Amino acid sequence: MPKQILKVTGLKKYFPIKKGFFNRTVGYVKAVNDVDFEINEGETVGLVGESGCGKSTTGNCIVRLLDPTDGSILYTAKDGTQIDLAKAKASEIKPYRKEIQMVFQDPFSSLNPRMTVREIIAEPAMLFKTWSKSEEQEMVAKLMTRVGLRPEYMVRYPHAFSGGQRQRVGIARALSVNPRLVICDESVSSLDVSVQAQVLGLLEDLQQEYNISYLFIAHDLSAVKHISDRIVVMYVGKVVEICETEELYSRPMHPYTEALLGSVPKLIADKSVRKATLEGEVPDPSRPPEGCFFHPRCRYATEECKKCDMKLIPVNPDDPMGHRTTCIRYKELSLKGV
Ligand SMILES: Nc1ncnc2c1ncn2[C@@H]1O[C@H](COP(=O)(O)OP(=O)(O)OP(=O)(O)O)[C@@H](O)[C@H]1O
Ligand SMILES: [Mg+2]
Repeated sequence: MPKQILKVTGLKKYFPIKKGFFNRTVGYVKAVNDVDFEINEGETVGLVGESGCGKSTTGNCIVRLLDPTDGSILYTAKDGTQIDLAKAKASEIKPYRKEIQMVFQDPFSSLNPRMTVREIIAEPAMLFKTWSKSEEQEMVAKLMTRVGLRPEYMVRYPHAFSGGQRQRVGIARALSVNPRLVICDESVSSLDVSVQAQVLGLLEDLQQEYNISYLFIAHDLSAVKHISDRIVVMYVGKVVEICETEELYSRPMHPYTEALLGSVPKLIADKSVRKATLEGEVPDPSRPPEGCFFHPRCRYATEECKKCDMKLIPVNPDDPMGHRTTCIRYKELSLKGV
């Protein structure tokens, strides 16, 4: 059995919608709506879904940039202790903060333009330990070399770097505290394809070297294919499918996954798949449809689909942690992979 580093169960994050003079709560944006998944040690899990599906909110709950509404996020620390990050107080989380780091979407806005790269990279490490000037410089130089940046550039400000270089600065910053789990939120989406490949390669090398686990957030499946061991597919705040990467691409068990695969232009091999591309819009998470949230856009939907409860079902009952889907029709459908 692989060792779990993170187990998310029944995670919910609702944002209140306020209206009127008295600022009354008139409803909730159910951004994350009962989400279950797990990350094993040294594993890369891809989290995919269209824009607005709740991917960033999930990541932000794990690092507690947001306080979850309900559910648990069980983290197994380096020393073996377990802590529920969803419920713990800030003071209880503090000792584990450095073990879980985040690399943000936009390297242009997430780096403070008034700080030198040296200060940016050293900042998280300085929170946990006092470093002398020379120790700090040495640490930053090592990290910069490791991520493929020239240490003599540490005196520069972020604007003097390219997008790919800034992303490397963000990675060096996360690495400065020896994290065990790194959440990458669209970390390579803004980079052009060849630079993307270099940064992904760097992330993979670092994983080998330090046994890091990644939660890799992206909105299309092509970005996560090569880096992920397993993939979690989200739709309107719900997980609709979890599966090992190879199998997800070749044997999807949810029409939403099939449609996502169909909307990856590069991967289309035969014309029949092309028909499966996504039409219509993502529903409003404050007023999701009845039953399966995907049924209004699903070309296989039946009356039953308007009543189902969207619980994850193991495709093989003997392997409850293996391939899982919320589609009640998965056995009858023969969905197309790529
Ligand atoms: N602070 C907030 N207040 C109210 N609603 C929010 C807040 N943050 C996010 N939302 C809503 O929650 C839903 C999920 O947002 P989230 O940013 O998690 O999506 P995402 O999957 O990361 O999308 P993208 O791919 O565009 O980054 C969206 O409908 C969004 O409008
Ligand atoms: Mg996002």
